[in-house]
Amino acid sequence: MKHFLDIHKTDQTELRGIIESAKTMKESRKGLSRGTPDVEQPLKNQMVALIFEKPSTRTRVSFDVGVRQMGGQTMVLSGKEMQLGHGETIADTARVLSRYVDMIMIRTFEEQTLLELAEYSDVPVINGLTDRTHPCQIMADIQTFEEHRGSIAGKKVVWSGDGNNVFASFAHAAGQFGFDLTFTGPAQLDPEQEFIDLARSKGSNVIIERDPAKAVEGADLVVTDTWVSMHDAQSARERRHNQLRPYQVNDALMAKAKPDALFMHCLPAHRDEEATSKVMDGPHSVIFDEAENRLHAQKAVMRWCLGK
Ligand code: CP
Ligand code: NVA
Repeated sequence: MKHFLDIHKTDQTELRGIIESAKTMKESRKGLSRGTPDVEQPLKNQMVALIFEKPSTRTRVSFDVGVRQMGGQTMVLSGKEMQLGHGETIADTARVLSRYVDMIMIRTFEEQTLLELAEYSDVPVINGLTDRTHPCQIMADIQTFEEHRGSIAGKKVVWSGDGNNVFASFAHAAGQFGFDLTFTGPAQLDPEQEFIDLARSKGSNVIIERDPAKAVEGADLVVTDTWVSMHDAQSARERRHNQLRPYQVNDALMAKAKPDALFMHCLPAHRDEEATSKVMDGPHSVIFDEAENRLHAQKAVMRWCLGK
């Protein structure tokens, strides 16, 4: 069973294959309207369930469009409307869904929900974000970086802000794709040590640097994300903003990175909080390429899961 649960759980060669297949599939759709089916229909006769226990724009639309372009069918389910949200166990949900559909994508809160779903499912399960990780996003980000700058191996990626779920998947990717990663943010919002240790154990040079200006020196890519994630308590909003304000990505910070550094944000963004609109809409920014590549990268992930 090929689940796509996290970047460190998939073999390096397979990950590389997924990225290359995403690039090829994107290329083959140049000039086509979004609703035109792909020439190859690897998901023909496949039914895919897309489960959302949290809001989503990109993940929801890109998975839905991706499945349809590859000839499959989707059903979008909200956690609250399922029995899952009313006490049915995850294991039973997995067993039941496996009798109806060929693949499941889930966006949920606790990582344990994803892991249990995968454990009891007879069909591939894809992680569409948990409180801890967001692997599909970083697959799209690797594709995006490489389209603009070539291989990401050996490059310096700097994360400025909250050590959250998106950072965690960057750390997983650092180990698997061989790039260096610097985290700059307040100590109270450091990423879990486990993510850093794992990347280091695979040879990635992972650094924690409290001074954002120092951190971005020589950066090939600067990344940030919202200061308050969907799983964070709204009551912590003000405190987090105060802690994170020095780590805003603005023109002054970007000027300290390499002149051709790229800027990424997975979106949704809170403009002029974690990043200024000037940076988001400026020459370094590739944020909308990242959003587009969710479509192509996830199509490649789904093909891989189904062995097609
Ligand atoms: N980046 C991302 O996952 O966006 P959505 O929350 O809109 O899916
Ligand atoms: N860190 C954000 C990412 C959203 C795509 C969140 O979890 O809310």
